[in-house]
Amino acid sequence: MSETLERWSSRRAFILAVTGAAVGLGNIWRFPYMTGENGGAAFLLLYIAFVLLLGLPVMMAEIMIGRAGRRSPMHSLAYLAQQAKATTHWRWLGAFGAMTVFFILSFYSVVSGWSIEFLIESINGDFEGLSPDEIGANFEGFLADPLRMTFNHSLFLLLTMTVVAAGISNGLEKLNNLLMPLLYLLLIALVVYAAFHDGFVPALRWLFSPDFDAVTPGVVLNALGHAFFTLAVGACALMAYGAYMPDHQSLPKAALAVAVLDVLVALLAGIAIFSAVFAQGMDPAEGPGLMFVTLPIAFANLPWGMLWLSIFFLLLLLATWTSSINLAEPMVATLQGIGLRRGRATAIVAVGVWLAGMLSVLSFSTMADVHWLGEMNFFDLVTTIPTDIFLPLGGLLIAIFAAWVLPREIALRALDAGPNGFRAWRAMVRYVSIPLTLLVLLSGLL
Ligand code: TRP
Repeated sequence: MSETLERWSSRRAFILAVTGAAVGLGNIWRFPYMTGENGGAAFLLLYIAFVLLLGLPVMMAEIMIGRAGRRSPMHSLAYLAQQAKATTHWRWLGAFGAMTVFFILSFYSVVSGWSIEFLIESINGDFEGLSPDEIGANFEGFLADPLRMTFNHSLFLLLTMTVVAAGISNGLEKLNNLLMPLLYLLLIALVVYAAFHDGFVPALRWLFSPDFDAVTPGVVLNALGHAFFTLAVGACALMAYGAYMPDHQSLPKAALAVAVLDVLVALLAGIAIFSAVFAQGMDPAEGPGLMFVTLPIAFANLPWGMLWLSIFFLLLLLATWTSSINLAEPMVATLQGIGLRRGRATAIVAVGVWLAGMLSVLSFSTMADVHWLGEMNFFDLVTTIPTDIFLPLGGLLIAIFAAWVLPREIALRALDAGPNGFRAWRAMVRYVSIPLTLLVLLSGLL
């Protein structure tokens, strides 16, 4: 496969695209409920530490490989391995990444479908005047209804795949230019609103005063998996975006901007959500239902609650849209790399992901008791193993390839941060990121 000539139209466009990939369910749904379950500020600190020590350097490694290869992830790895006179088996890392994003996208589309459902319900004012039990029952009832779930999952996937089919500059760039600024505006509006309520101060206190007793090896592994997930690192998805990165742009600066924007969204979303939760004296450790049960309950009792709840779910939907486009890209690029036209490649990916997503849809009704591994049904399986194990493992291999296999001149040029910047990055990856990922992965597994 020859080099792609497609480029993001500007440095800003590249940063927006990667931020769009990074900001999603991970920040707005997963981060708050994981923080709620794992001891608040202690989890937050671990997550930020992992973002800085692992997520960020590995993100640079991943984008670097794409930029140096300028092909689909599998083909970039094969091509660069050849340049380095290493085994071309490295290309299987690209396939591993494609498998990882396949499973992630399958549940991602289902959960994002929930936000379509809840957006419509909030606009209709359906939660107004309902008791907490009734709101809980509403979510349960929705989950138990495969038809409604299927409809939303299908609609969301259609939204995603339409943009993917249109290609990078036609589809995604235009969407990002519109959505990303809107997303921050909505989020800031929500936080300002929260600041006028009783829950604001308790939320800040809870988010920022750590309880280290809550930290177990499992929690550490969760925080590690989450750092990769939220930055979209470890599945060669950013590698696919790196292939279109413009020629003159410092990679570390771009990556740092993305990480800051990403953590900021998680913090702002956390403040908005927990302010509402504490204003109603509710439990922050509700788990995955935090956003779909606790939040409607909290907002149902606040002035203008339905309006703000609608804004919230709109925000979630926009954020997940740009993320799922990123999740689809490495699969589509890989199929294109073996000669398929983009439209056909997109259709094949869409059908495959839709089918796998149906197993998640049915995990809440007819297949709830079908256990695929231990006690886990399909949804439990795809929401944990790919994130907590495949992403760190993929990230580890990506880091090893970039820092130990890739020839120095190629890496230096792709990083575009001068010789000193390059040396600092490589030392960090070699002696901090790789050993630390290995350590956490092994200790979490054992
Ligand atoms: N980062 C996104 C989120 O936080 C999810 C995501 C997008 C992702 N692309 C990815 C996760 C690639 C892993 C790999 O919601």
